[in-house]
Amino acid sequence: MADLPEGEAVPADGSLPDPDVSKGFSAYVHIPFCAVRCGYCDFNTYTNLDFGPGASVSGFPDSLRREIALSQHVLRVRGSAPLLRTVFFGGGTPTMMNPAQLAGILRTLHASFGIAPGAEITTEANPESVTRESLRELAHAGFTRISFGMQSAVPHVLHTLERRHTPGQVTAAVHWARECGLDVSVDLIYGTPGESAADWETSVQAAIALGPDHISAYALTVEPGTAMGAKVRRGELRMPDPDEQAERYEQASRILEGAGYRWYEISNWAQPGHECRHNLAYWHNENWWGYGPGAHSHINGTRFWNVKHPLAYARALDRGRTPAAAREILNLTEREEEAVMLGIRLRDGIAIPAWADKRAVAALIADGLVDASRALRGRLVLTLRGRLLADAVTRALMP
Ligand SMILES: C[S@@+](CC[C@H](N)C(=O)[O-])C[C@H]1O[C@@H](n2cnc3c(N)ncnc32)[C@H](O)[C@@H]1O
Ligand code: SF4
Repeated sequence: MADLPEGEAVPADGSLPDPDVSKGFSAYVHIPFCAVRCGYCDFNTYTNLDFGPGASVSGFPDSLRREIALSQHVLRVRGSAPLLRTVFFGGGTPTMMNPAQLAGILRTLHASFGIAPGAEITTEANPESVTRESLRELAHAGFTRISFGMQSAVPHVLHTLERRHTPGQVTAAVHWARECGLDVSVDLIYGTPGESAADWETSVQAAIALGPDHISAYALTVEPGTAMGAKVRRGELRMPDPDEQAERYEQASRILEGAGYRWYEISNWAQPGHECRHNLAYWHNENWWGYGPGAHSHINGTRFWNVKHPLAYARALDRGRTPAAAREILNLTEREEEAVMLGIRLRDGIAIPAWADKRAVAALIADGLVDASRALRGRLVLTLRGRLLADAVTRALMP
């Protein structure tokens, strides 16, 4: 599993240099449990469902409640308006918790900070982990949106990814979610070893046929510490080819745009008005608190991240201490650079920063990575080719 970044120590009570969130913030809740670990996955998740007090599927909500109480103590608010504009339960597999547990955590967030009217409240879910009834309970509890890990509609690709669901289970889950009035997103992965262009087209078309509001498509990354990484090392699987992945991205973008899904962030397409507001808050560099093991937070230029192991997380909170492992306080220049790195990923790009080197911008236009006409009007907006090389564009812009 990827290591946490280096950083400075966090005060034991979790206090922050600038804790004011009066303008509102977002909450991310990380559920670090899965029934089975997929061979490609490097996320902070565990198939041991009971590490001890506060770190088991049944005891974990208590630990989250302690962190919510700690954040309530740390954050400062003027006024009494509800503060949470978006809430996102991610994982791991949030639906390893039953709907009553998820509803209980949501109620604690509401009692602590207030959930704003019209807030977007999402949970991720594996298609095989929901039923018509569980989705009804989630909708009844206030969830407005669900994001299913579809990954592919092609059985041999799902098999290589070691996913446990069938394409039919995705169809049923999306249908039930729609019945309950939930906004629906599906995640796809491209570039899996053995996936042909035709397989990928089948998956994209199958996702569109489900009629979701939102579709994410991610290039498969093979991390060294995963089971898939080991298979690639042993020569049992072929490493995804970056040029082939670039072709798959362009193929997906063409098909999705043709079907009315507008790209609004490099890996995300949505029916107009159904963009994920929670993820937009990240890319707009707004404030969010990440609850749970390994979760990252950003409050007014301070970034901090929690210890990764569920038991270390639960123990810190049990002792009345912050579960944060470390933090980084960004200076003005770092904040501006970060705003470029995040904002450039979006459909409308960013205003050309005053400090940007004019020659670097001209070179990006000449290389076809940045839209020339938008640059004339003062904005840096990625072209289709630029979307594939966003990190290089960011590097080129940095002073
Ligand atoms: C970490 S999962 C959590 C949600 C849920 N457990 C699931 O698998 O659907 C969120 C998404 O991350 C993406 N993902 C995870 N590992 C990835 C990898 N190595 N390469 C590309 N995408 C990945 C998958 O598309 C997945 O749907
Ligand atoms: S179900 Fe999701 S979070 Fe769990 S191992 Fe698979 S991809 Fe990772």
